[in-house]
Amino acid sequence: MAQVSLKGISKAFPNGAKVVNNLSLGVENKEFMVLVGPSGCGKSTTLRMIAGLEEASEGDIYIGDRLVNDVPAKDRDIAMVFQTYALYPHMTAFENMAFGLKLKHYPKNEIIQRVNEAAEILSIKHLLNRKPRELSGGERQRVAVGRAIVRKPKVFLFDEPLSNLDAKLRVQMRTEINKLHTRLQTTIIYVTHDQVEAMTMGDRVAVMRAGVIQQVADPISIYDHPKNKFVAGFIGSPPMNFMSGKIIKKSGKLYFLEGKVQVKLVDEMFDKISKYIGQDIVFGIRSEDIYDKLFVSEAPPENIVRVTCEVVEPMGSEVYLHLNTGTNTFIARVGAHDRPVVNADIDMVFDMSKVHFFDKETEETIV
Ligand SMILES: Nc1ncnc2c1ncn2[C@@H]1O[C@H](COP(=O)(O)OP(=O)(O)OP(=O)(O)O)[C@@H](O)[C@H]1O
Ligand SMILES: [Mg+2]
Repeated sequence: MAQVSLKGISKAFPNGAKVVNNLSLGVENKEFMVLVGPSGCGKSTTLRMIAGLEEASEGDIYIGDRLVNDVPAKDRDIAMVFQTYALYPHMTAFENMAFGLKLKHYPKNEIIQRVNEAAEILSIKHLLNRKPRELSGGERQRVAVGRAIVRKPKVFLFDEPLSNLDAKLRVQMRTEINKLHTRLQTTIIYVTHDQVEAMTMGDRVAVMRAGVIQQVADPISIYDHPKNKFVAGFIGSPPMNFMSGKIIKKSGKLYFLEGKVQVKLVDEMFDKISKYIGQDIVFGIRSEDIYDKLFVSEAPPENIVRVTCEVVEPMGSEVYLHLNTGTNTFIARVGAHDRPVVNADIDMVFDMSKVHFFDKETEETIV
């Protein structure tokens, strides 16, 4: 059993910078937890504290039931895969993978067996006699993962292991690591700044910003119910569209008003939004919840907005439209064969049952 539990951990560096702030997170046994956030938000520092490579300034770290604050890295029963792979250049792939076991005085037979087993899983048996400089980036990455696997750790820590790979290999390795998790059935904490990796790999995702966890949930809950504007804008590609405007009331109904845009709220949102009547508010809508009116058979007139189509980006399976309201720009994802005229006006339909509202001051989600 290897759950990981972080209780109120903080990290302040000697220069005074507090880069992780009172962070609590429970990772269940065998769970794949992704820590995601923008560059510099404290992801690696958090991972390094779990690994024992960095001391926590405050708080407690448990691996399994054991408080490990004072346990040296080598005795924490974790294995970490670094972004840079950190392979020893003068050793072959085999020696790199075997090194940790050798240090722990494992019998030779056991070492050979474990390395071969890991090499089999990672399809790198034919590379075992090569040195890192004779391997491609993807192959080095596999060796680095192999080095972690042979140790049969309680917990795997991955720090952006795919960020040095080209786009295609990254997608492939993402699948490989997913399969590996299913096969090895171990706890994984995986750090990335790539929200697509977070969505596709995590059982749960912890979104971090400036040393503070914003939300922890399964990927779909985070996507559908972001806790605040930051999470809403960070998870999803293209990012959620935001517009600042006002809530107004007309004939007993609520509308969101921004420049040329006026759309009617669904009745279900009335209670939560009515206290914002006459006030500024932030409106959010995902690009897939905006449709070209041309392809909607019965669009409610109060959900239609007339905007200018500035750019048409065909992506193959879909088309991104860059639209301008006069004061705001936003992106809609429409069908692959939609080709509106550039710089002409176009009517778009908002699916008002899918929109979000955020408090202008706190940026917390209202609905
Ligand atoms: N040894 C250190 N001394 C002082 N500040 C540090 C030290 N190590 C990291 N930092 C700072 O702590 C913050 C968090 O760094 P960290 O490496 O954890 O970020 P990250 O989320 O992993 O970012 P990235 O996605 O770029 O890897 C950064 O602002 C960084 O400059
Ligand atoms: Mg990092």
